[in-house]
Amino acid sequence: MNLLAIETSCDETSAALLREEVDGTRLGSCVILSQDVHRIFGGVVPELASRAHLATLGPVVDQALVEAGLRLEQLDAVAVTAGPGLVGALLVGVMYAKTLARRLRIPLIGVHHLEGHLFAPTLERHDLAPPFVALLVSGGHTMLLDVGEWGHYVLLGETRDDAAGEAFDKVAALLGLAYPGGPEIERLAAQRKSDRFRFPRPMLHTANQPGPEQYTFSFSGLKTAVRRAVEQSADLTRDRPDLARAFQDAALEVLVEKAAAAIEATGYSTLVLGGGVACNLALCHAAQSRLTGQARVVVASNRLNTDNAAMIGAAGLFRLRRGESSGPDLEPRADLPFPGLARDRTPQGITP
Ligand code: KG4
Ligand code: ZN
Repeated sequence: MNLLAIETSCDETSAALLREEVDGTRLGSCVILSQDVHRIFGGVVPELASRAHLATLGPVVDQALVEAGLRLEQLDAVAVTAGPGLVGALLVGVMYAKTLARRLRIPLIGVHHLEGHLFAPTLERHDLAPPFVALLVSGGHTMLLDVGEWGHYVLLGETRDDAAGEAFDKVAALLGLAYPGGPEIERLAAQRKSDRFRFPRPMLHTANQPGPEQYTFSFSGLKTAVRRAVEQSADLTRDRPDLARAFQDAALEVLVEKAAAAIEATGYSTLVLGGGVACNLALCHAAQSRLTGQARVVVASNRLNTDNAAMIGAAGLFRLRRGESSGPDLEPRADLPFPGLARDRTPQGITP
């Protein structure tokens, strides 16, 4: 089965071709076009994102087909991100996918963007299977999940304000760095000269207190603390790497401690990191060293961590295999609910 996947939820226009084979899923191609226009504005401008998707989605799909050595007529199914995301941006991908599926008379499947992030590592690690704990950290979401089996997820905790990636982006803006801020902060943090700064670890104290707040995150207070330090700095050029490092250390410590608490509570031996912030090597190393002897840490390569259509294809194939498909009435939703997600915050863990 040849599946075309499309992702246009934010500022990446992406198309990928996946082939379902007896021994697993093979990635035929994955084209990702990042919309540089938003850099000028220091953040994503929704109207510009939609227009850029409209202009480039056709050529991006053509390129993905060429790289995979396939023609349109050889496609067996189409998967597309249906939400969450910018509704105008999603609409471009959904309309394109719907039109194509109808013209070729092939099944269409709308995919939840975060289920895509969850499936991304399976494209490189064919042995990855639940149960595991997943920490999804992107520009729009921060979620800790108990993944008992594919399609059945328990939300352990999420952020009550800014997402982890959003905090990196906002702190980068405070430090005068370019958008997206995550890679800039990581690069600068590695150049730290002193540990003069230390920021609060929001919600860290609840990590070992079973209850509704145990896995809850909050990053807006941390951002405010950085703002204050920036305002008080007599020499921002000198302090910038130290501030970036102090922020990164605080944010990562909370992420890692909550993930480690979830590993302890569930008894699982795998932690999956996903979403753009999982590109952060300091996060991966901190998680690995914290969980030594307890759990392995699985993370996809950078190209599959940030927004891409291949991960949408991987989740789409899973849904199609279960007999699911979307009708011609598929509509994008900015607040699309995560399929199969229970919000009771109680770890299932290993049943004795
Ligand atoms: O998953 P993603 O590509 O898009 C969303 O679904 O939001 O994540 C983008 C986010 C941005 O906030 C970006 O700053 C962050 O991921 N990011 C990083 C790094 N690379 C990307 N954050 C920290 N360190 C990085 N190396
Ligand atoms: Zn994403």
